[in-house]
Amino acid sequence: MDTLIKVNQETQKDAMPLLGTDYVEFYVGNAKQAAHYYQSAFGYELVAYRGPETGCKETASYVLQQDKIRLVLTAALFPDSPVAEHVKKHGDGVKVLALWVDDAEASYKTALERGAKSAGELQVLTDDDGEVRTASICTYGETIHTFVERKNYKGAFMPGFEARKSTMDVKSTGLMYVDHCVGNVGWGEMNTWVEYYQKVMGFNLLITFDDNDISTEYTALMSKVVSNGNGYVKFPINEPAKGKKRSQIEEYIDYYQGGGVQHIAVATKDIISTVDMLRKNGVDFLYVPDNYYEDVTERVGKIEEDLEELKRLNILIDRDDEGYLLQIFTKPVQDRPTVFYEIIQRNGAKSFGKGNFKALFESIEREQALRGTLDK
Ligand code: FE2
Repeated sequence: MDTLIKVNQETQKDAMPLLGTDYVEFYVGNAKQAAHYYQSAFGYELVAYRGPETGCKETASYVLQQDKIRLVLTAALFPDSPVAEHVKKHGDGVKVLALWVDDAEASYKTALERGAKSAGELQVLTDDDGEVRTASICTYGETIHTFVERKNYKGAFMPGFEARKSTMDVKSTGLMYVDHCVGNVGWGEMNTWVEYYQKVMGFNLLITFDDNDISTEYTALMSKVVSNGNGYVKFPINEPAKGKKRSQIEEYIDYYQGGGVQHIAVATKDIISTVDMLRKNGVDFLYVPDNYYEDVTERVGKIEEDLEELKRLNILIDRDDEGYLLQIFTKPVQDRPTVFYEIIQRNGAKSFGKGNFKALFESIEREQALRGTLDK
């Protein structure tokens, strides 16, 4: 049974006030080419760069932005770099889920006092555009959270980076903000990390899905969603559950060599236009069979969008007490079957598409079967 735990966000006092997601940083094998992909396929603009030309001899980083979403793509220049180690072990993946705060030092101190492990002490970075303060704590796997305080900064990204512009024609695909970031953790570790977010960051447990909610005939997983007080930061945490065949979370853990970020959900106001553009730009999405749409109107009632268009683009629909949502999932965006994206349009609904889990997981199972990773 899933349990939606209602939190009164008006009266909720945040133990650690978060203003939102500041950036998501990937460690990748080739940041220059990854930056091209995010510009040409997803419509992000290049806004800043740091590398040997700006005085950074170890790594090269490209900062990409679309509306409120900021991605940083970082590659190592030498094999003994921690970035190279990370990529060797995990493949391309998310290293940093950075959180935008008003006071980085206070957030960091509070987190440490509440039991977090440091991943980087307070740094005060300055240049002609002002000052950015950062400090980091560990979370699941080798992933970290960096608190970013930028209220006294007016530059492109951070001191150390220079402003850059895309040299290609970039067309926005309508992606607006990070809706949620999902972590996969190993067997029996979900509650540990849920408690970590509750204790260290003062997050609320928003929803619990057990393996009856999230299972098909063959595979299963469990999930709990934690959120900060204002609801701007939501982290669902998944762990594998026993089924006849190998759970997609086990497959992830095998390929990622541990826990890590599974998917990043990005919001759009017009999912039909966004997905139409993404498909034309070559983004691959998971496929659900046409029969998914046969009883969809009975299940979700009336929606504003043209059902034929949703079917053509393979967009999924779900409803909760507060409205409906439209969503679709990309295939993994690197060769290892690890990180992927969700594109989501919320028309009132605050949930995560439970009504689509079965169709979605059957779709993932088809991909697992093609990779030969479904059978144990
Ligand atoms: Fe999601």
